[in-house]
Amino acid sequence: MASARAPAKVIITGEHFVVHGQPALAAAINLYSKSSVIPSLTDTIKISALNLGVEATYKPTVESVKTSTPNAQKIIEPFRLLINEILNRAKIRSVGLHLKVMSQIPIGVGLGSSASTAVSSIVALARFLNLNLTTEEICEVAMIQERLIHKHPSGIDPTTIVHGGVILFRIGRPPIRLTPKRNLCFIIGNTGLTRTTGDLVTEVSKHFGEDEFEMVSEEVGRITLQAAEAYEREDFKELGRLMNKNHELLVRIGVSTPMLNKLVEASRRAGALGAKLTGAGGGGCIVALSTPEYKDRIMKAIMDAGGQPYQVLIDEYGAKHSDLDQ
Ligand code: PMV
Repeated sequence: MASARAPAKVIITGEHFVVHGQPALAAAINLYSKSSVIPSLTDTIKISALNLGVEATYKPTVESVKTSTPNAQKIIEPFRLLINEILNRAKIRSVGLHLKVMSQIPIGVGLGSSASTAVSSIVALARFLNLNLTTEEICEVAMIQERLIHKHPSGIDPTTIVHGGVILFRIGRPPIRLTPKRNLCFIIGNTGLTRTTGDLVTEVSKHFGEDEFEMVSEEVGRITLQAAEAYEREDFKELGRLMNKNHELLVRIGVSTPMLNKLVEASRRAGALGAKLTGAGGGGCIVALSTPEYKDRIMKAIMDAGGQPYQVLIDEYGAKHSDLDQ
């Protein structure tokens, strides 16, 4: 048996514009998906998405997939593509295995649940098949699933999840890992409203004329670089201010909602150093930056405003094998 776990992620600054080449700052957080692979005696592949109650079986050499329910296909297909890619890379045509995927990450709310389950599955499958993959290769394979689900993803989700810690990300460049700071507290506020990242990314591209888009895009890029510097020198007050500024620009491009703004306002009033929507917007989550003494007040404020709060810590390790298969 081989097992692996992978964290969730939160974008601190720079979402959306990262798709258009700007830098973005993201952190891996301590909510996890876990995948395990066990051998099967027949040459059949079985995929179980345990917390969704969905299963599928198929033979790698045959295209037809038998799923537990008709709409399970949409959930299973991304995993089938990942398995195919891993088998190709391992030069294996026929194999029997059972991939089990479990996750504690809320789905469709901007915390990277699909990238996390992809990455934990890739790491577990590669381990099971004795295939050595570099971090870049793991991200490359995860992008197959990300493209299917999110249309034009930047790659920030799998990159942050694979590496762990706090990442300064830019398309086409190696990620820069910043030193994680322990005394930093993130509170997530979940609106509970799911949405489709790909559709929001497409909407944003249509929102402005080219010149205005370019101007906002460059401003957000500058905010991210300043945020990374503020983070490095542990100037969390400045980091919070930059997160607030970033939120205003996300409001301007039309991806915030009244509920997201309400959670942002409630967090700031309760003492957050900064708060903004995180991820694609249109629902999903906000992230608030807090000092340890304000975190309970912020959590309560989010709850009173109708959101679901989670206090999260930075995951420093990224995707890794779990000890179960030692
Ligand atoms: O899927 P989400 O909500 O985590 O969005 C990711 C951030 C975007 O910049 C909106 C898209 C991307 O691929 O970078």
